[in-house]
Parts: sequence; C-alpha cells; structure tokens
Amino acid sequence: MSLHLGRTEFGNKANQGNVFTQEEAMQIFNDWVLNPKLKMHMKQVAHLMRCWSKEKELLDEAGQWKWEMAGLLHDADWDQWPELHCKKIIEYLEEKNIDPEIIRAIASHGPIHFGVFPETSMDKMLFAFDELSGLIHAYSLMRPGGYEGMDVKGVKKRLKDKAFAANVSREDIDDACNRANISLDELIDFIITRQGSVIL
Ligand SMILES: [Fe+2]
Repeated sequence: MSLHLGRTEFGNKANQGNVFTQEEAMQIFNDWVLNPKLKMHMKQVAHLMRCWSKEKELLDEAGQWKWEMAGLLHDADWDQWPELHCKKIIEYLEEKNIDPEIIRAIASHGPIHFGVFPETSMDKMLFAFDELSGLIHAYSLMRPGGYEGMDVKGVKKRLKDKAFAANVSREDIDDACNRANISLDELIDFIITRQGSVIL
C-alpha cells in the first residue's frame, strides 16, 4: 500500500494566515481520532511544536498556534482511515482553505511514505518530533518515575536497543536531525523537559 501523495504543492497561498480556532481543531481531533494512545501522541507533538516555535523561533501567538495546529492534526486520519493517511486530512484542510504552511508541514511528516520532503522549519521540526516523541513516551511508561529524572543517556540507550519501540524508525530520527540541523542530544533534551506535562 503506497501512501505517496503524488504532489509537492499544497493549499493555496491566498489562504495564508487562515487557521481553525482551538475549538474547531479540537472538534476534528475528537471526531476523527478515537484511539487514546494516538490522541496522546498528537497532543504531545502539538505541545512540542508550540514550545519550539515560541522558544526557538520566537514566534508570536498566531505563529505558535500554526505550529501547534500542524502537530495536533498531523495524524488525524491515521486511526480510522490508515489507507488514506495523510491524504484525507490534507484534502480536508485544503477544502477548508487552511494556511498552506500547515498543510505542507503535515504532508512532509513522513518523507519516505508520502514522497514530500521537509523544507520549512515547521516541516522539519514536525518530522523531527514525530518519531522520537513516541519512543520517549514509551520509555517514560516503563520508568517508575515516568519523565522524572529521565536523561539523554537513558534515551540514547533505548534508541540503540532495536527491540525497544521497534516500530520507531531510527533512520528517520537521524535523517530528521540532519535536516533540522540539530543534534540528537538537543532534540532528546528538548522533548524530555517538555513532554511530561502533557495530559490527555
Ligand atoms: Fe505522528
């Protein structure tokens, strides 16, 4: 089953700045995604995107919400329509005249799968957070203290153990760090120190 999107242009430039309200985005999130584990993952990625856009990109509230929205909806169609991932959410956002930057970021969050490569910093960070966020969360669930006291070294040990969270692509994580021009240590540390506060 190929999930290739067959195109690299998304949305309409005239729609720049068009976003959902928080309520509208949460409505899609809740209607489309039923699996609590996937919901948690999407919320975690959304939170990381907001934190990065605020702290590293120094964006204002509107800019932060765009990043957060991309994270919140990036896997919206994965639960009920895996064979249409991420075509369905992209087409939906295009229909609703959403900002093309958000649509592009979602379209490039799995370059090998979708055939779209991350270009903007929003694209790159969504790709970077996606896989690693899940592995770190899985690690927190097996630690008595959860995120408390977790360190970069411990996460790197889990990354080396190919049997741990085996579905998480180590190649994608390396590729994402290279594209975003950040070190693996920096990315791990950023996630560890922010992800623990996310609740469903
Ligand atoms: Fe994801």
